[in-house]
Amino acid sequence: MGLKDKLTELKENALKEINTAEDLKKINSIRVNLLGKKGPITEVLRGMRDLPKEERPNVGSFANKVRDELTSAIAERKERIEIIKISKRLEEEKIDVTLPGVPVKAGQPHIIMQVIDQIEKLFLGMGYQVVDGPEVEEDHYNFEMMNLPKDHPARDMQDTFYITDKLLMRTQTSPVQARTMEKHDFSKGPLKMISPGKVYRRDTDDATHSHQFHQIEGLVIDKNITMADLKGTLQLIARTVFGEEREIRLRPSYFPFTEPSVEVDVSCFKCNGQGCSVCKNTGWIEVLGAGMVHPNVLKMSGIDADIYGGFAFGLGPDRFAMLKYGVDDIREFYLNDVRFLKQFSQRG
Ligand code: PHE
Repeated sequence: MGLKDKLTELKENALKEINTAEDLKKINSIRVNLLGKKGPITEVLRGMRDLPKEERPNVGSFANKVRDELTSAIAERKERIEIIKISKRLEEEKIDVTLPGVPVKAGQPHIIMQVIDQIEKLFLGMGYQVVDGPEVEEDHYNFEMMNLPKDHPARDMQDTFYITDKLLMRTQTSPVQARTMEKHDFSKGPLKMISPGKVYRRDTDDATHSHQFHQIEGLVIDKNITMADLKGTLQLIARTVFGEEREIRLRPSYFPFTEPSVEVDVSCFKCNGQGCSVCKNTGWIEVLGAGMVHPNVLKMSGIDADIYGGFAFGLGPDRFAMLKYGVDDIREFYLNDVRFLKQFSQRG
């Protein structure tokens, strides 16, 4: 067989091999074997030595042509393999942007916090400050400063978790008022504050009692504050939380830190005062306690009770939320069952 025929046969076989190569590794090894120094083409060219001189250029250029053809066949195949690889990847990684997404579970403030936020907003709008205080409190601030000396019978109204003789879990947020009154500088203006937060009492948990619950207490101290100011403020709370048409009524009551003291009822938002199961057929629902600050409380905080006076109120966001949303067991608020809580989404 002549050299040309050898080269032609070699080319045919090589082309077959090149065009069926499936990956870059294969094509690279074909290239190295075929065109390398120890490859068959070099081998054939070496055989030229035995040819007559005049035939050499002819065979030489034929050999070069074969080499060029194979080189470009390899390059083309390489490109083809790349394209196949890319389109395979595109196919595999294809994303259908029209598919519905996985819904993101969004949280929301706890229902009690929603009530607190609503009341905070109302009072911030009227220039009150919102004040925090410690939950582990001194007996001194929780009771003594609130006109409840040791052995005062009214301490029984608030059964207490004592930590030591002097330290306790606060039973009300009133101690925050005491701490704030003590520091207030009346030359800078009246004291207007609310103190929301958790409080603790030694109650046995049931549908209407929880050993931990919430309070928001409010306090205003200035000259010439009257019960009319208190009543107007209470009416605003009732209407903000329970609806614009609500009326309130005040009944005489007793708290050690206020004199006179009142219990506050709101006209039933369910039946509009007609009588139903929510208001136990009375048309009214008891919602909070309030009164005019007792002079002893003022004196103990170093405030001149002959010049200054004020009102205070205390309400329970838990009770408000129970009434407003028809929740009949206070313990629901503390079980943190998401199925319960998500019913009260602010997003409606
Ligand atoms: N701290 C009182 C309580 O828990 C509530 C209250 C505050 C009542 C202010 C009247 C005035 O019983």
